[in-house]
Amino acid sequence: PPRPLIDAHDRAITYLRLSVTDRCDLRCTYCMPERMRFLPKSELLSLEELATLADGFIARGVTKIRITGGEPLVRRDVTTLITALGKRIGDGLKELTLTTNATRLTDHAEALAQAGVRRVNVSLDTRDRARFASLSRRDALPRVLDGIAAARAAGLRVKINTVALKGVNEDELGDLAEWAHGEGHDITIIEVMPLGEVGEDRGAHYLPLDRVRARLEERWTLQASDHASGGPARYVDVAETGGRIGFITPHTHNFCASCNRMRVTATGQLYPCLGDAGRIDCRAALRSDAPARRLEEALDRAMAIKPSRHDFRLAAGEGGPALSRHMSVTGG
Ligand code: GTP
Ligand code: 5AD
Ligand code: SF4
Repeated sequence: PPRPLIDAHDRAITYLRLSVTDRCDLRCTYCMPERMRFLPKSELLSLEELATLADGFIARGVTKIRITGGEPLVRRDVTTLITALGKRIGDGLKELTLTTNATRLTDHAEALAQAGVRRVNVSLDTRDRARFASLSRRDALPRVLDGIAAARAAGLRVKINTVALKGVNEDELGDLAEWAHGEGHDITIIEVMPLGEVGEDRGAHYLPLDRVRARLEERWTLQASDHASGGPARYVDVAETGGRIGFITPHTHNFCASCNRMRVTATGQLYPCLGDAGRIDCRAALRSDAPARRLEEALDRAMAIKPSRHDFRLAAGEGGPALSRHMSVTGG
């Protein structure tokens, strides 16, 4: 039987977020600067190494793998990996999914569904074209909306991820939820986190979700839901739309006590916590002469160092980002 991954705070780790690239075709202002320095491709794990890594986690009880980036679909061979991992579904793995900006989803949706992916999370902060272009620094909204439609046409369920930004999309959050629900999608709203220098003050746009929720309650009747998607969101049902809204609140309602996940970067760095600099080099383990054993040891070490909670600070005057690493390195 597998030796489960239980950390020093008694949390079972069953969810792996696996980044396949740090690159992205958008430049969301809260995520990265226009001139972002990316990793040399020679540093990345190969498809074979990514698959071996995933198998090592599955052997230790991971049941859910989310492929992330950067933008995962900009890696040319990503569907080969997803097809390979799809063969593990049922054999320990229960869910294979991805988080994407959807700019290339039209080309990939069918292959993802074929590989066994059942749902995808799509980042979408606005449905206004000019606003999208200014927020992501690319005029890509039409392609994103086409990508979402293609996903649905391929039979994939879609969850929309929206980062709440004061003075940017605060006025649109209710309309976004109404649109999502009309299309049959869940939506989660996210508090912005301070990862990596982006050349702007994220604190100036930070919106505590209690305020967002209060605004939504002026429009609709929200009822606490026991729905759980396996990530950090806490959901409510909206009586009027019949849809669900999730709140991801790293600042205002800490969810670390129920954390079930770890992430690995495209170069094989295992980060036990998004909000902590601690990491373990799995690439060295994979490239050693005893990969299986060294990977086991790496996972055991991760269980020992995973912190009890993140400690993000976003308040004005507290200086720069808490962590120099950008969100795109771990895919969130
Ligand atoms: P579901 O499987 O649908 O529940 O998705 P998920 O929320 O696990 O994944 P997704 O990639 O959609 O992430 C949504 C947001 O949650 C992103 O902004 C992530 O950065 C954030 N997030 C996910 N896991 C963590 C975590 O452990 N800590 C913090 N602070 N944020 C997280
Ligand atoms: N804070 C919160 N969410 C972020 N994302 C990217 N950068 C940040 C940040 N600094 C979101 C994206 C995507 C998810 C993977 O992470 O919008 O939905
Ligand atoms: Fe790309 Fe996602 Fe970062 Fe936007 S938030 S720049 S889509 S990785």
